[in-house]
Amino acid sequence: MALFNRQKEISLKDIELPEHIGIIMDGNGRWAKKRGLPRTAGHTAGAQTFRRIARYCSDIGIKYLTVYAFSTENWKRPKEEVDAIMKLFKEYMLEAISDFQDDSIVVKFIGDRSVFSDDMLQLIEKNENDSKDRDGMVLNIAMNYGGRDEIVHAVKKIAQNVKDDKLSVSDINAQLISENIYTASQPDPDLIIRPSGEYRTSNFLLWQSAYSEYCIMDVLWPDFKSEHLDKALIEYAKRNRRFGGI
Ligand code: FPP
Repeated sequence: MALFNRQKEISLKDIELPEHIGIIMDGNGRWAKKRGLPRTAGHTAGAQTFRRIARYCSDIGIKYLTVYAFSTENWKRPKEEVDAIMKLFKEYMLEAISDFQDDSIVVKFIGDRSVFSDDMLQLIEKNENDSKDRDGMVLNIAMNYGGRDEIVHAVKKIAQNVKDDKLSVSDINAQLISENIYTASQPDPDLIIRPSGEYRTSNFLLWQSAYSEYCIMDVLWPDFKSEHLDKALIEYAKRNRRFGGI
């Protein structure tokens, strides 16, 4: 802790911060198990960590933050757990509408919305509409998100445009694909943080992470503090990004 704080004093103001950070909020289940609690308690604690870290990222001037809250594969979990995550998601959306009116954060949802109930969809849209003209950090919440699913959606949209003679095959390039995925018009993530020590992408931002720097951290998400974020930022600042060059 002291080390992180010292590093922060020396470095955070001097280092180049990433413009876009992605976080895989992993380790909630293990955190709960270690305490003899149900997995859902881990998600409740994880949702609190999410609130604190999103606020911290906004405070230090991060422009885009994308958090992985629920994947297209997470439906395989027991119904009780899925329901608990959806409840937390709903609580956050209600809170964001009523409590964060003077906030500067722009809230967006990325993922396949077609499965959500009408009331959930209305909450998602209200959050997006109410916050769209703000000038602060863009917070992308990935819900029912999968990187492969996102690419499939983009390919279908582009194929339809080709079929309708709005595009020709020669128009298809990486830029066009970037413009047809959920994060269209946003920069790719510079840094992706994965707490809980797992070395996997888990289908997170597959297209966008081609040149992202990964920081795998040995801490479970509910225990993740601003000091851990500082540590990842300092680590990121030391990386030599070459984007395929030399
Ligand atoms: C991964 O940990 C975490 C999830 C699948 C759910 C993340 C959800 C939240 C943090 C709360 C809801 C979100 C919002 C936006 C309010 P895991 O359960 O796979 O952990 P484990 O690997 O230790 O089992």
